[in-house]
Amino acid sequence: MNLISSIDTLRQQISSWRQNGQSIAFVPTMGNLHNGHLQLVDVAKTRADKVIVSIFVNPMQFGKNEDLASYPRTLEADCAGLKQHGADAVFTPTPEMMYPRGLDNQTFVEVPKLGDLHCGASRAGHFRGVSTIVCKLFNLVQPDVACFGQKDYQQLAIIRQMVTDLSLPIDIIGVPTERASDGLALSSRNGYLNAEQRAIAPKLYQLLQQLHNTILAGNHDYRALELEVRQQLTQAGFTPDYIDISDRHDLTLATSAEQEKVILAAAWLGTTRLIDNLEV
Ligand code: PAF
Repeated sequence: MNLISSIDTLRQQISSWRQNGQSIAFVPTMGNLHNGHLQLVDVAKTRADKVIVSIFVNPMQFGKNEDLASYPRTLEADCAGLKQHGADAVFTPTPEMMYPRGLDNQTFVEVPKLGDLHCGASRAGHFRGVSTIVCKLFNLVQPDVACFGQKDYQQLAIIRQMVTDLSLPIDIIGVPTERASDGLALSSRNGYLNAEQRAIAPKLYQLLQQLHNTILAGNHDYRALELEVRQQLTQAGFTPDYIDISDRHDLTLATSAEQEKVILAAAWLGTTRLIDNLEV
């Protein structure tokens, strides 16, 4: 596996694969890889000749009071996992390489509407940071396909919209969420949970499943149902951020039984913010 830490070397690697007629799948990550990420690599391998993974803790997508400084950086273990799963190259740029003029002077990409809802409403600037870095990485890697986890449902929708709006010739593949045996969605941030919080955490997905079943059973009083789950989360020890029964396509709040829906949720356990979702 080729470890690439400069843009020049990246461009050389990409052009040599292209000259050999090889297709490229890309998996962007922020490192601290878990089985969910490795699953993305496994899917990527089925979709192209070469798989390249980026590891970059992107400062532009963290708010001022968020966990940029403490975000776990575990490059050695990450590379071992990627090698085992057959990734061909890992690109590890620095913030100076990606944002040489600093974050405030950087051109950005912003997906309107989709980026303002749910996580966008509580994390100002987050999705601007995500779409900007993903767009830059797409321009550098020029992949045929790119894989993203469905755990970040809104992020995936935003990236699909960006690729359509900017006419990027890249197939975006959403990969189902990997879960621990008790149902908790795998996330790098689960590592922040203490034992007591970790024991409570699976309740988030359990409540989403209950809500899903209630909707399927014919209860369409969505706003009241959301409120009920908020209360149940609070009782379980969470501080809920949002529980939104949403339209699967534009992510606005669902209002009718006919819409294809997804339940989107975010809740805090102490200082750790967990997100999850379930399509109905
Ligand atoms: O999902 C993530 O890990 C990040 O948001 C991404 C897509 C790698 C962009 O930094």
